[in-house]
Amino acid sequence: MPKFIIQGQKPLQGEITVGGAKNAALKIIPAAILSEGAIIVKNTPDIEDVKRLLEIFEDLGGTTERNGDQLILRMEQINKTTIEAKFANKLRSSIMFVAPLLARTGEVMFPHPGGCVIGAGLRPIDLFIDSFQALGAKIEYKDSYYHISAKRLKGCSYFFTTVSATGTESFIMAAVLAEGTSIIKNCAMEPEIVALAEHLNKCGAKITGAGTPTIIIEGVESLTGGEIEIIPDRIEAGTFAILAAAARAPLMIKRCRPDHLESLLTIFKKLGINFEQGEDWLKIIEVPKILPAYNLKTHEYPGFPTDLQSPFTVLMTQATGTSIIHETIYDRRLLFTDMLTQMGANVTMCDPHRVVIQGPTPLRGRALTSPDLRAGISMIIAGAIAKGTTEIDNIYQIERGYEKIDERLKAIGLDIKRAE
Ligand code: EPU
Repeated sequence: MPKFIIQGQKPLQGEITVGGAKNAALKIIPAAILSEGAIIVKNTPDIEDVKRLLEIFEDLGGTTERNGDQLILRMEQINKTTIEAKFANKLRSSIMFVAPLLARTGEVMFPHPGGCVIGAGLRPIDLFIDSFQALGAKIEYKDSYYHISAKRLKGCSYFFTTVSATGTESFIMAAVLAEGTSIIKNCAMEPEIVALAEHLNKCGAKITGAGTPTIIIEGVESLTGGEIEIIPDRIEAGTFAILAAAARAPLMIKRCRPDHLESLLTIFKKLGINFEQGEDWLKIIEVPKILPAYNLKTHEYPGFPTDLQSPFTVLMTQATGTSIIHETIYDRRLLFTDMLTQMGANVTMCDPHRVVIQGPTPLRGRALTSPDLRAGISMIIAGAIAKGTTEIDNIYQIERGYEKIDERLKAIGLDIKRAE
């Protein structure tokens, strides 16, 4: 199995460019099913999760053409309405195909999706099922597959009991071709949801309110083809900013959207980290000699993203004083801190949602296994600031979401090798 080998404590500096947002691409690809016309997707990240979704798209009868970062997706005719277990087991985002398949064909079969182990057991899909039911679909579960059918979905009023990014996006995709109007409340407000709604509107959908807690979707008969440029990945940009802070590296982060990182940048200001920002760039300039500790609580957007919690936790091992990290969204996302302890950090787990860090502590390189995407990239940050060699196994988990990460980090000075 390939692994990354990092020699730590090399000075980092220079420029790094952010790719297209994984969590936007993972919705735009399934959404292409909603229309018979071609969907042109620009700035598509070349990451494993995108490859897996394209496999599903083709299995359902679609064609895909990739030219650099441009994708052309066509789903003129849907050949099958089952998302096979061999695909669904690999990633949770396979569930994003359910709503568009249901909306366009009136039926869909799929097993409970697999994916990153960051919540207890299998991550739930009750909100998806519940919202399809609210839109008038019939649901059955037999032979390990959900069978969902509805001749045509019917618009409805729906309240999300839990704020869910993919739940909101799934509802939007189901309701765009429904009969009548849907009003959804307590929606997630992530920029990726706004991007999806704007794209669908350009293809003929009638969605208002995306980016606010209430979204209204007036159903239409059909959608046309269209073109979209994927927004920059705010989590990747934030990860690079945290790497720069942890390594005390002057770093220019290009092609990003600092306005999507307000929570992180507000905390950076409080910590005394000096940075400059423009519309599409962020420059980390200097980190104070004594970096103060900080109590972090993750929150739905625009609060601090759970996807940046693990990199920030690594940063706090270098802060002076006591930090409490409170992960409110997932109950397994702090388990990786055990690896930081093995590297020399002083981390005490209070319960699955909270750790206490006493810092600063120097880190030592270790042989580690990446448990999931965000913990994996955090291991790279820890390896970059640790003394000695860090080996990271199971890097598929990292390459699921970060394109050519070794090459890009090498270009800013990190001593990282990909060993096959
Ligand atoms: N939840 C339910 N029932 C459901 C769906 C979700 O209870 O049917 C719960 C989850 O267990 C969690 C909370 O709702 O406690 C929020 O989860 P959400 O549904 O928002 O997560 P998601 O939509 O599955 C997306 C991103 C995640 C990111 C979260 C942030 C995608 C493909 N995934 O997940 O990204 O952490 O939003 O809320 O957009 C990642 O990129 O590493 C990643 C995990």
